[in-house]
Amino acid sequence: MGKRVVLGVTGSIAAYKAAELVRRFTAKSWDVWVMMTEAATKYVGPLTFHALTGHPVAAGKCEATPASVFEHLDLASCDALAIAPCTANVIAKLACGLADDIVTATALACTAPLVVAPAMNEKMWKHPATQANLATLRQRGVKVMDVGHGELACGVVGAGRLADVDAIVAEVSRALGA
Ligand SMILES: Cc1cc2nc3c(=O)[nH]c(=O)nc-3n(C[C@H](O)[C@H](O)[C@H](O)COP(=O)(O)O)c2cc1C
Repeated sequence: MGKRVVLGVTGSIAAYKAAELVRRFTAKSWDVWVMMTEAATKYVGPLTFHALTGHPVAAGKCEATPASVFEHLDLASCDALAIAPCTANVIAKLACGLADDIVTATALACTAPLVVAPAMNEKMWKHPATQANLATLRQRGVKVMDVGHGELACGVVGAGRLADVDAIVAEVSRALGA
């Protein structure tokens, strides 16, 4: 089995793109595990990721499951962690060190390289709070991917689109030294 890569999926309309991302990760023979916030499960079902990775998907709260008592610690033991798409909310939680769901608890327990690919409405993206939180993450060595510019799901044209799948795959490859 190849490098162990954990993907966090959060509650953005771009969550459906994470399925293609996972397909691309597995094509590289990486051992891919997915975790989701509760909000993300409204956009894509955990079953999609379970089927694509062959592994159960951790979603919602950080709690003991039949698969693992310390699921967040098991997931944190990986070669690279990516959060894509990453909401403004999860960016804020990461910046503060909050750990109240499986994605943020795993991120806090993880010492592997972290790649964050934000996706949100342009006003959320440009908000000083979001930009300050991203600056905090960058200072800590987190690789924050640029957002794309174009038509957003809300119908507005502007900045905030999830980075291209190719660019995210390339960034995670770099994080793995692959
Ligand atoms: C239709 C819809 C689309 C949304 N898309 C985004 C998005 O792309 N980025 C974002 O930061 N928040 C988005 N939100 C808001 C988040 O879903 C909301 O902040 C949620 O609490 C995020 O939960 P999570 O960060 O735990 O996944 C959207 C909300 C709705 C109703």
